[in-house]
Amino acid sequence: MAVRLLRRGACIAFPTETVYGLGANGLDANAVAKIFAAKGRPANNPLILHIYDLAQAEQLWTELPETAKKLATLFWPGPLTLVYTAATVVPEIVRANLPTVALRIPDHEIALALLRAAKLPIAAPSANSSGKPSPTCAAHVWEDLQGKIPLILDGDAASCRIGVESTVLSLCGEVPTLLRPGAITREMIEAAIGEIRCSPALLQPLQAAEAAESPGLLHRHYAPNCRVKVIVGDAVRAAQRICELYEQANKRCHIAATEENAPLYAGKKYTVLGSRAKPETLCAKLFSLLREVDCDLLLMEGIEAEGTGLAYMNRVLRAAGFDVEYI
Ligand code: TXA
Ligand code: MG
Repeated sequence: MAVRLLRRGACIAFPTETVYGLGANGLDANAVAKIFAAKGRPANNPLILHIYDLAQAEQLWTELPETAKKLATLFWPGPLTLVYTAATVVPEIVRANLPTVALRIPDHEIALALLRAAKLPIAAPSANSSGKPSPTCAAHVWEDLQGKIPLILDGDAASCRIGVESTVLSLCGEVPTLLRPGAITREMIEAAIGEIRCSPALLQPLQAAEAAESPGLLHRHYAPNCRVKVIVGDAVRAAQRICELYEQANKRCHIAATEENAPLYAGKKYTVLGSRAKPETLCAKLFSLLREVDCDLLLMEGIEAEGTGLAYMNRVLRAAGFDVEYI
């Protein structure tokens, strides 16, 4: 049924190891247009083509660069998206008129089964309404897209175990550039292919000059229904500052806590996301908290932007619209 819908040019939602995707036949411009319509996605934000083997990458890029081969061997299937020069078969709408196209092999049985059965590259952004946090369960997709798409494939509870979107790395240019941090970290990539550069926009608002290289960072993202403020600095002092702000604010506050600091929030409303020592645990629960929290002000602990901590801080700072206090 899912494959039939894809082949007929419909778009459907499916689980991956990162977040749910909203997929359509990546070679059919009309089908891909339905993705942009369902999400309300700006046309200047390009999509990732999901594939199931390297042979497809050879068809969709002008060539398979050595760095891509190396990274694919190490990290595919997995949460790494590689950007390189597009072959002419890739419709303009997929790449938002850029000369490049983003590819990834997802590490999820349902996604891979769908890709193999359809024998098509599947263009898929995250399956949320544009601007909202990416969906990490089928219910989130339903909340945003009910009535707009014909099918949501519901994965099991272990789907979206990563919880934030894939790392995006551009292989164009002399030195590869990290455009979006994820579970495949800068450190892991550098251990494989040597030094890379980071887009300056990873931890600060995008400047106009960088918009062309990282269009995805241009748009407001991950916005929950409340104000979000991030406190960055020494763990205990950050917690103390959060408590101060909590007491001062004449509104319904909630704290996104780490388990290390949770005891300091006794008597207050908080949700423990995971451990500061393991930022991947924070990433895994972040988007469901942003969607489900019911408050006026969400106070979030910042962590070091290293390893998977970079992916976490990238999402948290954007969710907060860069309302951040460094202490
Ligand atoms: O984990 C993921 O990547 C999920 C799942 C469904 O695979 N997908 C996802 O797609 O997060 P989306 O569309 O929400 O994010 C794609 C990101 C955007 O920031 C976009 O700007 C960037 O990849 N991107 C896509 N094609 C690009 C290109 N040709 N050049 C530069 N950036 C590109
Ligand atoms: Mg998205």
